Amino acid sequence: MITFEQCRSFKGEITVPSDKSITHRAIIMSAMANGVSVVRNPLISRDTMATLDAFRLVGADIVKESDRFLISSGGWKTFKEPRDVIDCLNSGTTARLLAGVFAPQPFYTVMTGDNSLKRRPMDRVIKPLSKLGAEIRGRAGDTLLPVSVLPSSRMAPAGIMAETKSAQVKSAVLLAAAQIEGITEYSEKTPTRDHTERMLSGFGADVSSRDGVITVSGGREMTPAECFVPGDFSSAAFFIAAALAFEGSEIIIKNCGLNPSRTGFLTVLKGMGADIETEITRADPEPIGDIRVKYSECSGGRVSGDIVANMIDEVPSLAMLGLFSSNPVEIRDAAELRVKESDRIAAVAENFRALGAEVEEYPDGLKVWPFKGDACKGILKSFDDHRICMINILLGKKFGVKALLDNVDPLDVSFPDFISWVMALEQK
Ligand code: S3P
Repeated sequence: MITFEQCRSFKGEITVPSDKSITHRAIIMSAMANGVSVVRNPLISRDTMATLDAFRLVGADIVKESDRFLISSGGWKTFKEPRDVIDCLNSGTTARLLAGVFAPQPFYTVMTGDNSLKRRPMDRVIKPLSKLGAEIRGRAGDTLLPVSVLPSSRMAPAGIMAETKSAQVKSAVLLAAAQIEGITEYSEKTPTRDHTERMLSGFGADVSSRDGVITVSGGREMTPAECFVPGDFSSAAFFIAAALAFEGSEIIIKNCGLNPSRTGFLTVLKGMGADIETEITRADPEPIGDIRVKYSECSGGRVSGDIVANMIDEVPSLAMLGLFSSNPVEIRDAAELRVKESDRIAAVAENFRALGAEVEEYPDGLKVWPFKGDACKGILKSFDDHRICMINILLGKKFGVKALLDNVDPLDVSFPDFISWVMALEQK
């Protein structure tokens, strides 16, 4: 068991790791383009290395330096059949997006992942890709990894309606559509993160987006580009939550991605009275800026509807703030959380209850009551989930030896230096 020493507050300036979603996409599109692309400031973590290794297997030449990747490729028309199974490790983004990239290819690909990923649904991408003519088979009735993406020469454009509120599903369809001659339209009622649409245009694909409909005119060669990866808002969220959970805190997060399709958490927190200011320093192709957060007790309240899709990875942080708000925090319309790296609703509920907190679980969310009493000695499990693990560490900093953590192994999925930053900013 691991324990942490209590701290009073967090103060100082932090640069969070680079954005995971954008790094995956930058590697993918660089490999799909014909020429040499440069990815500056990429996230180097277990998840993004899974994507990088996959494209090495299909023929992209990737030089990995400490602060950039140089990716040389003949483009998607020249990918070759991988000689081995593609291991997506813990990365849902790798598995779902690569299903889209490889679906139109004239070769056979097999993808698998770790035990957590093998429990996560793949039918959500197999179904829409099948509507475009893909042939993908998977375990458990074409629902789970491992999946086989069969050679396909018959894919055709179509109009697809989103059935799952998921940027991964949308991205899989758009990445397939970019390779299919003709016009594919993807319609989503609830907007999800739009990094793929933004980046595809930068790599020379013909993409436009209007009123929830994304149109791709596919089949053309993609052109190389240079992209800069901003800090990951979803990693920043843990420090935003920390500043609001520990009295006296004040932190500044520098050069962080502030794409509005990702920052629902800020909107919700400001609505709960949090003292947060943002300053955009660069707008294109992705908004980037600084975030200043000063401790202020959140009022709590109920969060539901479309905004939840724009803060899906931040829900565990918001749930944690329920413990330290003046009123309960209730989160609904978040059923997607049950199929993340872990069932995050169940994981959060179990861990908070282990400390003695009051939590009610719903099929699509949870309600967390302010925790005023003394914590009992409880075991906080990581459930193989990096985001649950970071919440546990913050609770460890709050409750000291009363919070026993089973492990911190999953951190290297998205935030390998998390503990070092916690130590650098903590005030004892
Ligand atoms: C991601 C989309 C989200 C998010 C995940 C990364 C992406 O998943 O939870 O961490 O990079 O597109 P869904 O698309 O399943 O909502």
